[in-house]
Amino acid sequence: MADLTTVFAGIKSPNPFWLASAPPTDKAYNVERAYEAGWGGVVWKTLGEDPAAVNVSSRYSAHYDGNGNVSGFNNIELITDRSLEVNLREIEAVKKSWPEQALIVSLMVPCEEHAWKTIVREVEKTGADGLELNFGCPHGMPERGMGAAVGQVPEYVEQVARWCKMYSTLPVIVKLTPNITDIRFAARAANAGGADAVSLINTINSITSIDLDQMAARPIVDGKSTHGGYCGPAVKPIALNMVAEIARDPETASLPISGIGGISNWRDAAEFISLGCGNVQVCTAAMIHGFRIVKEMKDGLSHWMDSKGYNTIADFQGAAVPNTTDWKYLNINYKVVAEIDQEKCIGCGRCFISCEDTSHQAIAITAQNNGTNKLEIIEEECVGCNLCEITCPVDDCITMVKRDVEKPYLNWTQDPRNPHREAS
Ligand SMILES: Cc1cc2nc3c(=O)[nH]c(=O)nc-3n(C[C@H](O)[C@H](O)[C@H](O)COP(=O)(O)O)c2cc1C
Repeated sequence: MADLTTVFAGIKSPNPFWLASAPPTDKAYNVERAYEAGWGGVVWKTLGEDPAAVNVSSRYSAHYDGNGNVSGFNNIELITDRSLEVNLREIEAVKKSWPEQALIVSLMVPCEEHAWKTIVREVEKTGADGLELNFGCPHGMPERGMGAAVGQVPEYVEQVARWCKMYSTLPVIVKLTPNITDIRFAARAANAGGADAVSLINTINSITSIDLDQMAARPIVDGKSTHGGYCGPAVKPIALNMVAEIARDPETASLPISGIGGISNWRDAAEFISLGCGNVQVCTAAMIHGFRIVKEMKDGLSHWMDSKGYNTIADFQGAAVPNTTDWKYLNINYKVVAEIDQEKCIGCGRCFISCEDTSHQAIAITAQNNGTNKLEIIEEECVGCNLCEITCPVDDCITMVKRDVEKPYLNWTQDPRNPHREAS
């Protein structure tokens, strides 16, 4: 059986699945039940200075897919609304009872040296394994000069990371905000400040929907609303790209990354790890489906690793990074075309409509005597865009197949049609 244990930024964990800092990790009761269910670690819900934050009601809203499943989740909650003293006492007790499981404490205090020095020393006394600096919360806290307000300014990120490294011996993970133009600058700043790792992403500024009777965005608080933080399956593509940007940046290539954002199953986790993450964190999937999802995540990941001959997480960590490149290095001479498996085709014509109306008119449709349609690819017109494969409702009915063209690898920087060839 594959070995799922990890050592992330010096922190040991029985498996790479941590619960992200959020309601699932905001008290001992939750965290102990999460460990019992098999989570390898948790990042405790963000602590701040007393008096504790005051939350509003209501707090969450969602974006649904066509089947009524939550594809995106939005919240306007603040950091912990329990006192620092209560949290620290519970953290100490939980760590004592669960020495093998990772316990990282998320922190957010004003951007002042004294505030950070005080809190990191308090946390260190609990026996926790590490610190995560929350520079990402996009609602409520930035208005007070914290959260994303720090994460959006590389100089602040570097400064606070440096203070934490100066006043604590614990590993420091800097949690990055995606509400930024280029994530690499924040990651480089964390690296420059001496951070042991980065984690990403925190939530994305969002308004999920409008109640057209009340004329207010959801969630509604006494007739008014505000933007929230978006997470869940819908943000996974954005998170993966940001992880890849950091993993393939020469300045941060060796900085450990904890992947967060829409991770709902073992395959999502494997994808983040293949792009360089040393472990992953989960929030929305646990909030929607409960702690038990971790069993399927662990089983699925280890079975897949066995099937591929990977013995440890490190065996495939970062394996997809060298294959993630700039557009200009893609092979212009590579060619695929769509192929329809006539045995599987149900003749619905969705592929035809999308190709005919919006793409390359590369699918022919012929009405059959039995009332169904026959769909056929017109190969000379097919550019290999994948749209028909994406719209087809039947698994593996349309596949993209490689056509052997007698042309060598050629990218845009080498192509004589590129007027700026020399410059690029
Ligand atoms: C209700 C809620 C509260 C959250 N609170 C915090 C928090 O206190 N600190 C923090 O760093 N991130 C917080 N997050 C963000 C999550 O830790 C995580 O970064 C984000 O939800 C993306 O992961 P996911 O797609 O698995 O949910 C919160 C998320 C939600 C949904």
